[in-house]
Order: sequence, then C-alpha cells, then structure tokens
Amino acid sequence: MFEIDRFIDDCKAAVAADDSHKATREVVERAMSDPAAVLKGLGEPTKSEIQKIYNSPELTIINVVWAPYMTIMPHNHEMWAVIGMYTGREDNVFWRRLPNEDGGKLEAAGAKALSVKDVSPLGKDIIHSVTNPLPRLTGAIHVYGGDFFSIARSEWDAETLLEAPYNVEKNMKLFEDFGRFTAP
Ligand SMILES: [Fe+2]
Repeated sequence: MFEIDRFIDDCKAAVAADDSHKATREVVERAMSDPAAVLKGLGEPTKSEIQKIYNSPELTIINVVWAPYMTIMPHNHEMWAVIGMYTGREDNVFWRRLPNEDGGKLEAAGAKALSVKDVSPLGKDIIHSVTNPLPRLTGAIHVYGGDFFSIARSEWDAETLLEAPYNVEKNMKLFEDFGRFTAP
C-alpha cells in the first residue's frame, strides 16, 4: 500500500536525518518496489503534468507525468534528485559543458534508460534532457533536495545547446500544452 502522506513524512524525515540523497533514495526505493501500489495511491495518470506534492526550501516532491514521445530540453537542478519510476520509461541524455566554447554550450556525455521500478539518484551538477519514448503516458516521482521551483538554474536550447536561465513558467506550460495527449 502506498500512502502519499506517509511518503511525504518519510522523505521529510530522510532529509532531516541526512542532507545527501542517500536516505531519501531508500524511501523512494521502498515505494518503487511496488509500482502498482504507487499507481493506485497517486491515481492512474490521465494527462501530462507536473503535480506538486510537497515543496519547502529543503525538499520538493513532484509527480511528473510525461506525454507520449515528449522531450524536455537539457537543464540542471543545482540540487540532488532521486527519480523513481512507477509507469513507462524516461530516457535520459546526460550533457556536459564544452570547456572552450562560449555560451555554456553542451556536448552529450552519456545516457540512461529508466524503466518501471528503477530508482536513479542525480548529482547536484547533473545536466540532463528527458524523453518518454513510449506511445503512452510515463509517470515518475521526482524528489529534490531543495526548492525545485525557486532556485536559479539553467536550461539549454534544444537546437543550439546554448545556456539560458531556467524558465519555470515556460516549462510548466510545456507540460500543460502536452496535456492534450491523454491516456489512450
Ligand atoms: Fe530534470
């Protein structure tokens, strides 16, 4: 059984006890050991969205539902994250800044496919882009060790790969616009 209030309390306790991602990762791993229960607890996703579950200066918990084939441009978080997959897939491309280029230009540095039950920590300096390669909605709980919505961070243009300030409103709207792709 997955209860969201219990999950929030467990994440709060984990961050209070350990400000690295480690204790939180254990909480997320426990939850994702039964992805069907998470799906039931959160409700079957019906459209792409970023659902705010909890947000404080120390901790943010969001339910991220990706539209079919949706991609978000490269971005960083400036805080650790733990991703737990409860349905579908997130294909991550990891990027790094080119040392001798202006504009914070990126090159691809690696990739990781996350499937149901996978729990992946992301370091504070990680730059990634995410694609849902499936023809259906993908759902994951993302937990961050800070205030995901307020911290100054960066995004990179998907075409030029040049750096700009992260635009929260634009990216929330991206999920809203993709919301027209509903579950089949
Ligand atoms: Fe991200």
